[in-house]
Amino acid sequence: MNTSSAPGKVILFGEHAVVYGRPALAVPVTQVQATATVAGTTRPGIWVEAPDIGLASELSRLAPDHPLAAVIRSVFAALPPTPLRGTPPICFANGGRRKGVTIRVTSTIPVAAGLGSGAAVSVATIRALSSFLHSPLTNDQISTLAFEVEKLHHGTPSGIDNTVITYAKPVYFVKGQPIETFRVGKPFTIVIGDTGIPAPTKESVGDVRKLWEVDRPRWEKVFDEIGEIARSAKEKIESGEWRVLAPLMDANHALLQQLTVSSAELDRLVEAGRRSGALGAKMSGGGRGGNMIALVERKNAPAVAEALKSAGAKRTIITTIDRTPEV
Ligand code: PMV
Repeated sequence: MNTSSAPGKVILFGEHAVVYGRPALAVPVTQVQATATVAGTTRPGIWVEAPDIGLASELSRLAPDHPLAAVIRSVFAALPPTPLRGTPPICFANGGRRKGVTIRVTSTIPVAAGLGSGAAVSVATIRALSSFLHSPLTNDQISTLAFEVEKLHHGTPSGIDNTVITYAKPVYFVKGQPIETFRVGKPFTIVIGDTGIPAPTKESVGDVRKLWEVDRPRWEKVFDEIGEIARSAKEKIESGEWRVLAPLMDANHALLQQLTVSSAELDRLVEAGRRSGALGAKMSGGGRGGNMIALVERKNAPAVAEALKSAGAKRTIITTIDRTPEV
């Protein structure tokens, strides 16, 4: 049996502009996790179970574009041929009469909320299944496979989710460039507030593309401004001047509003956060629903979390971004 877990993630700065080549900053959120367990079974076949979404099926019965089926097939395709892919029945090293395998996936990460649930399920599944098959994949390989599956969820993903979740480290992400982590000079705390409104990233990313296609110079300028904010935020985090992130968050939120990816509910939570003592706040991720983040003094975190709940947040997570060594 093999079990692997992968954290959620939150984007601190740079969402949407990152799809157009600007940098973005994201950090893992370990309070929420996706977990995959792969075990041999006497029942022949490859069985997929995801009780959270009521899924229990043999792999061959799942549609080719089913994200979980796609991730499992991608692992088999990436590994040397194994008897599991057809007949003869699987022979396990420990002998036994096991002829099949069960892949069970659970997750505490809210779906379509900007916390990277899809990528975390993919990463946990790829890691557990490849280890179970005695061919553990490297982080690079895991991230690449998870990215292929992200395309099914997102259409044109930047790759930030699979990267930060695979490496489970703060990431300064530029599409197409090698992974770069960043140092956290002094720990800082954010409160994540969930609107509870599921909002598929594919739609907001598609809508931004429509805006961009109609007036590229205008939106390229907005992407430049967001990219500049992300660059400057990285410097401030590294030098430990985390309070300066507050005005950068506010400015980033205003630019995301221009891109039409915020919403009344997100704006309400952002305002409530600021009024209740947060130093700065912004939506996070694809937008229209999903999550927002508020930068707080550690001691104020519970009060800000309460204020977000009173303003309609369905759940809140307090998380501290801690010192992390360079990879
Ligand atoms: O946080 P999510 O999973 O909603 O990701 C959104 C990030 C975007 O920049 C909007 C899209 C992407 O692929 O980077």
